[in-house]
Amino acid sequence: MRLPIALRVVSACLLVLGAGSGARATAPPDRAPAAAPAPSAALPLGPSLAPTPPMGWNSWNRFGCNVSERVVLGAADALVKTGLKAAGYRYVVIDDCWQIKRDAAGEIVADPARFPSGIRALADAVHARGLKLGIYSDAGTMTCAKRPGSKGHEVDDARAYAAWGVDYLKYDWCNTEGQDTREAYGTMSRALRATGRPMILSICEWGTTRPWLWAPGIGQLWRATGDIQDCWDCGNSWGGMGVVHIIDLMAELYPFSGPGHWNDPDMLEVGNRGLTLAESRSHFSFWALFAAPLMAGNDLQTMSADIREILTNREVIAVDQDPLGIQGRKVRDNGPHEVWMKPLADGTRAVILFNRGTEESPITVEWEDIGLFPGGRASVRDLWRGIDAGTFRARYQAKVSPHGVVMLKITAELPGREAGTTGAH
Ligand code: GLA
Repeated sequence: MRLPIALRVVSACLLVLGAGSGARATAPPDRAPAAAPAPSAALPLGPSLAPTPPMGWNSWNRFGCNVSERVVLGAADALVKTGLKAAGYRYVVIDDCWQIKRDAAGEIVADPARFPSGIRALADAVHARGLKLGIYSDAGTMTCAKRPGSKGHEVDDARAYAAWGVDYLKYDWCNTEGQDTREAYGTMSRALRATGRPMILSICEWGTTRPWLWAPGIGQLWRATGDIQDCWDCGNSWGGMGVVHIIDLMAELYPFSGPGHWNDPDMLEVGNRGLTLAESRSHFSFWALFAAPLMAGNDLQTMSADIREILTNREVIAVDQDPLGIQGRKVRDNGPHEVWMKPLADGTRAVILFNRGTEESPITVEWEDIGLFPGGRASVRDLWRGIDAGTFRARYQAKVSPHGVVMLKITAELPGREAGTTGAH
């Protein structure tokens, strides 16, 4: 459907803005500079490295410490083959357990049994597929899986990553007794920048010191919650939590996210074993509404067609990647039935009708709850069904399955200006 003229003008302006910020993003070279690192102020930290939330795949949720170059290359190939790369997934991130020790000179060493070709060759292979490579370390003495951490080796490690052609560092917070988060992440941020190679810094202290208040300008994304578990609403003693608990913790953080500085509710569990298809759709919908980094965490080589369809739903991904970069928020809470809304750059709204309950139920979005003229008309598109539901006055109601969502894109129709009439223009 064509937009009324006023909305078309607004959306054209915003699209130009979006294109501008995208154009400023620097494409990292495949090779690290061989010579001395550039001055530390060389690289901008602003939105340019992550103008929209990073998308990719990470080894941890599915493979844990069973990561290897075979697993990573398999994921890279699958990203290409399954259409995830075409849908926007770019970063292939090796999580914990790739490193085995430091050598006599203090250099970090990749496990030769699992990464026989070395990280540099792996980076070359990933780049050859048009993708980017991410790696993992920890601000303390050891990683969470007790591999060597980067404390005291930040500059050497950052230089090694740059020399190997790494594009992204996830930096964890285990074994950090006595350390200060802001200082430790600042140290690694400066070390990365000093290499002269653009590398995203993904902060991972689980929201414990409210990184949304200090991390913009240090990293491009920060974990806002404990570790996601492959379940709907479980929790465990060490702070791991199911999808619903993460949704609730994210609800209040919407003011702190934006282009170049994203709240991270953790990697996706879509396609692992613990969620139903409806729950997986809900999980993915909320991550998109939150403008969250979309890091697939499943085995891409063996995923079903249903799971691939969830991970590659272009209209839902467009909500996540919207150039305005606003994190959506809850606008209506009727016990187990909720309405959430994210304003988009083209003047439309993404809306989630969320049913926490265990019975199918009708849920209604009122235009006045999402900032539209209460008595006006608006057209409604259903993003999971991929259909235009029609044009409605004041509200829209849909049946929502248990633990499910209906995800909508709602476009106001201006009174007296039918689509296609151009008024003064
Ligand atoms: C922490 C992180 C996880 C994962 C593991 C690896 O728990 O939060 O995402 O990186 O460490 O050991």
